[in-house]
Amino acid sequence: MVTYPTIREGVSQLKGSELVRSNISVAKVIRTIIAKSLGPFGSKKFLVDSMKYYKVSGDGASMLEKMSLWHPIANILIKLATTQKDVVGDGSISTVVLASALLERAEKLLDERIHPSVIIKGYNRALKKTLSILDEIAEEIEYNDREVLKKVAYTTLSTKLGTKASSILSDITLDVFDKIRDKRETNWIANINLVHFIQKPGGSINDSISVRGMVMDERRIHPDMPKRIKHAKIAVLRSPLEFSKLDHHPPTVRGKIVMDDIDLIKPFIEAKPQLFRGWVNKIKNAGANVVFCEKRIDEMIGDLLARTGIMTITLYRWAAKDKHITRVARACGANLARIDELEEKDLGYADLAEEREFGDSKMIILEGCKNPRAASIIIRGISSEIMEDAERAVLDALHAKASLFKCNKIVAGGGAIEAELKKRLTMFSRGFGGKEQFAIQAFANAMLCIPRELVRNTGLNPYDVLPSLTKEHQKSNNIWYGYDAFTRKISNMMNVGIITPLEISKTILKGACETAISILRIDDMLNLKKERKEEIPENASGRAMQLPGFLSAEHLPEFKDYKQKYTVF
Ligand SMILES: Nc1ncnc2c1ncn2[C@@H]1O[C@H](COP(=O)(O)OP(=O)(O)OP(=O)(O)O)[C@@H](O)[C@H]1O
Ligand SMILES: [Mg+2]
Repeated sequence: MVTYPTIREGVSQLKGSELVRSNISVAKVIRTIIAKSLGPFGSKKFLVDSMKYYKVSGDGASMLEKMSLWHPIANILIKLATTQKDVVGDGSISTVVLASALLERAEKLLDERIHPSVIIKGYNRALKKTLSILDEIAEEIEYNDREVLKKVAYTTLSTKLGTKASSILSDITLDVFDKIRDKRETNWIANINLVHFIQKPGGSINDSISVRGMVMDERRIHPDMPKRIKHAKIAVLRSPLEFSKLDHHPPTVRGKIVMDDIDLIKPFIEAKPQLFRGWVNKIKNAGANVVFCEKRIDEMIGDLLARTGIMTITLYRWAAKDKHITRVARACGANLARIDELEEKDLGYADLAEEREFGDSKMIILEGCKNPRAASIIIRGISSEIMEDAERAVLDALHAKASLFKCNKIVAGGGAIEAELKKRLTMFSRGFGGKEQFAIQAFANAMLCIPRELVRNTGLNPYDVLPSLTKEHQKSNNIWYGYDAFTRKISNMMNVGIITPLEISKTILKGACETAISILRIDDMLNLKKERKEEIPENASGRAMQLPGFLSAEHLPEFKDYKQKYTVF
């Protein structure tokens, strides 16, 4: 430990190789926590917040994001996991586990007195080679190969859900993906934002379904309105259909009216039905037979609309109603309009608008919308946690498929690609003299962390399985041999159907390597000047002091006296 001159007297701080080792130890701790959730037999975690509200999750990025971690290295790893999820939708645990394995291997080289700059050079070279090996061995597929698309979704889903649910949901994602993908000139794109999710408690995940169009957890505002309208012409309104809000008047109109003659009240009482009749006529004249309104609807206008045979739905109760009303408008091709400006050109279209029963509840469905790309998935399940997890897994599966449009190549999972990379990188390292060879070799060895954790999570000892895996890879034809977690055997994972888009594999490797390198580069921590002088509450003795942001008394034994003397935050 070095006394650091820029920090206040008595405060010590790590620097140089000691700091690098300390950082690596943090990465190792994170890996121990998260690696147990890798693969189809990975464990779930109980996430409990300060209010004792809990959630169960097996998703790497959300686990890390929600954990309370103070160390900057932990935050770097959280960023790595969330970026992985944002970019390709899957592989957040793998990338963090790999980054930590690379750091662990680097630590061994530091023990051998190999300088971090040599390790970094070796890792960079190994990464470049890895990417070119991946391009060389990955298998090209057709964008329309439904079988492959289904397997890609199944691989992602099966690590979060049971096999039957994964199979059902991969069929659903296939259906939905067909609807949302589109060819723009020569490129394919898939707009996942077009998919609308509805969580409906009850039943099991296996009862989930996809619908061509929009589904809303809503019902008609009046029982006399039609339940089913074919060739629906849809008005989507942003303004309320009620009087009290005075939303149709400028906001400055506010006031109190005092009347001393009973006859004067009459026009006021009549104004409301008159206004409502005007609005209903406006809707009728525009040609609408279905109305969606983002805001409240008065009971009286509900009655009038029911008598006119116009199906009306308010989205007022929806939590994110802004987003939903835009979705409805986009799906049926309507313009969001205020009631007093509504015209025929603002209407959208759907082949069918229907209030349909799902178990003991009802939902509004718009099928055959003007925008053929609109699609919805109704997720069923016994609790909101289960449905949330399933929704996240389905989104990941859709993202994984969409990543095939960036590069239409796949590799095999179950540790197959990592075992093959290990073999090829080891051969590559032999072409280098000097210490760099050790760094490339270390990179190659780190690859096996993925199959090792997959084996460990199925309850077997990696030392019993990994030798057979590496032995299979010595044969030139067995590049896709990996560990099948369900049969617990070494098999050809392409045949088993555990496959990953090349884009995801590359992002995992690039993210892990670049993060490991950036952590190896850190050899010092500097305190930043405070932007604003914070108010520090005084303790009983009238003396208070705040520790630098990333330091905590528990982590600095020398702080014990300091802690007794001062209030430590
Ligand atoms: N049946 C299987 N047998 C062996 N390995 C499998 C099987 N199914 C999936 N895998 C492997 O599991 C790993 C993915 O596990 P998991 O989905 O839990 O983690 P992740 O994708 O890295 O993180 P997250 O999905 O939380 O973002 C991949 O290496 C994949 O090849
Ligand atoms: Mg995954």
